[in-house]
Amino acid sequence: MPSVYIKTYGCQMNERDSEAVAAQLVAKGYTLAPSEVGADVILLNTCSVRDFAEQKAIGKMQNLAADVRKNRPNVVLGFMGCMAQSRGQELIDRLPDVDLVLGTQKFHRAADCLDEILAGRRDKIVDVAEEQGSEATIREHLLYGNASKNGGGHRPPLQVTAFVSIMQGCNQYCTFCIVPYTRGEERSRSIPDIVGECRQLVSQGVKEITLLGQIVTSYGRRRASEAAVAGRARSPSEPVENLEVRRRDEDIAPYQIKDGRSAFVQLLNAVHEIDGLERIRFTSPHPKGYGDDLIEAYARLPKLVESAHLPVQSGSDRVLKLMHRGYTRERYAGIIEKLRRARPGIGITTDIIVGFPGETEDDFEQTLTLAREVQFDNAYIFKYSQRRDTPAAAMPDQVPQLIREERNQRLLEVINEIGKRKYSALVGRQAQILVEGPSKKNPARMTGRTRCNKIVVFDGADRHRGQLMDVKITRAGSFTLYGDPAIVNL
Ligand code: SAH
Ligand code: F3S
Repeated sequence: MPSVYIKTYGCQMNERDSEAVAAQLVAKGYTLAPSEVGADVILLNTCSVRDFAEQKAIGKMQNLAADVRKNRPNVVLGFMGCMAQSRGQELIDRLPDVDLVLGTQKFHRAADCLDEILAGRRDKIVDVAEEQGSEATIREHLLYGNASKNGGGHRPPLQVTAFVSIMQGCNQYCTFCIVPYTRGEERSRSIPDIVGECRQLVSQGVKEITLLGQIVTSYGRRRASEAAVAGRARSPSEPVENLEVRRRDEDIAPYQIKDGRSAFVQLLNAVHEIDGLERIRFTSPHPKGYGDDLIEAYARLPKLVESAHLPVQSGSDRVLKLMHRGYTRERYAGIIEKLRRARPGIGITTDIIVGFPGETEDDFEQTLTLAREVQFDNAYIFKYSQRRDTPAAAMPDQVPQLIREERNQRLLEVINEIGKRKYSALVGRQAQILVEGPSKKNPARMTGRTRCNKIVVFDGADRHRGQLMDVKITRAGSFTLYGDPAIVNL
């Protein structure tokens, strides 16, 4: 059978989609190639969030196409995911060696498409149509890699942590963001469907599950049918004020608030009941969805780890409003305060954009002060990138590239300095880690994660994989901790 290599760009959702495609192909008899060299099929799962991510994937495909044309003309080349969705046929027009362009609602069709192309029944396939129910198709996992079909008996899976996609799409329409156009309207899977998948994973040895979605705090507000009825996505040129109408649409939600708990908290409760599951994470929530019911869940549900990734984007209320984020700096800081009250020591990470159109020096300094005030454990900083058809791309006062870079550098220094202090403060302390496997940088050592989502590298063996272990933190590096299990696990 043909071998496939999938290269993934972008976020955890993309990683999850790639895993589901790989699992689907393995189930059909394909093998997974360890690298692009020698693979019969090469798929790039793409990201559109910033221009840089798109250019990287296009550059990669150009190189692959040149090599394939010269040396291996039968290799099948494909684009999947967000850029495939937003650019469609245009990608083949530009890169005629590409055989397949598969959109974000079509991952489950990958095997069928490849079969058709490999059998010579079809030459090129571009499939970026909407598909009702596609949110429930990302369900196959690849816990044992290529070996899944061989041999029985119980052995530890390659993965002790797993991602589970709970919803697709986003209706927030932040003015800088392309995701609502590439991933479509919010569509949520049902609670029993998600819990079933989680149970299955736990029965195979998974200890930690991360629930995934673009805006998980909006989980359950819209199910597939509602999204379909609500119809078209807002066109990028439509004024943001029209969003008020959309929000009323969301009120016809299939999952109602029960006992003051949102659908997302109801889902957390249901997943929490799974015996054998040790840890629950989720990403990404939206600050506006951080109600008291979710804060209360942190206090009540021990499997929910002390970690939250809460994208803030900016510390300036003026910029937050232009971004259409739906919260103020004060409200954001208030959520963090409540979270820290519910779970002292909780790890807080964030996403920040610098150089959003109209961002002044004063606005940027407010982001710096917010970072110092909140004391993030880590932050992903993005230089604003104009995305076509998004409202911010047409806003006046685009910030010159040099200033974006300078602000990126200044913020990075602040984030690194805070991170260093926070990580160093953990030296000498004890922490529980879940051992994930060999360290990527040094495969002779093992790596695990604390409940606060900090990576700990230690001297261990493969038999430790999947174990919850107490370690003493002996040293702090740059956003990495080093631990010694012997001291506490005698
Ligand atoms: N809700 C999703 C957001 C996906 S985009 C999630 O958190 O997974 C991830 C991050 O990319 C955003 O939080 C934002 O900080 C950044 N981003 C999105 N659009 C951008 C743009 N046009 N320019 C720069 N950064 C952007
Ligand atoms: Fe993008 Fe904002 Fe949704 S960042 S994914 S539009 S919450």
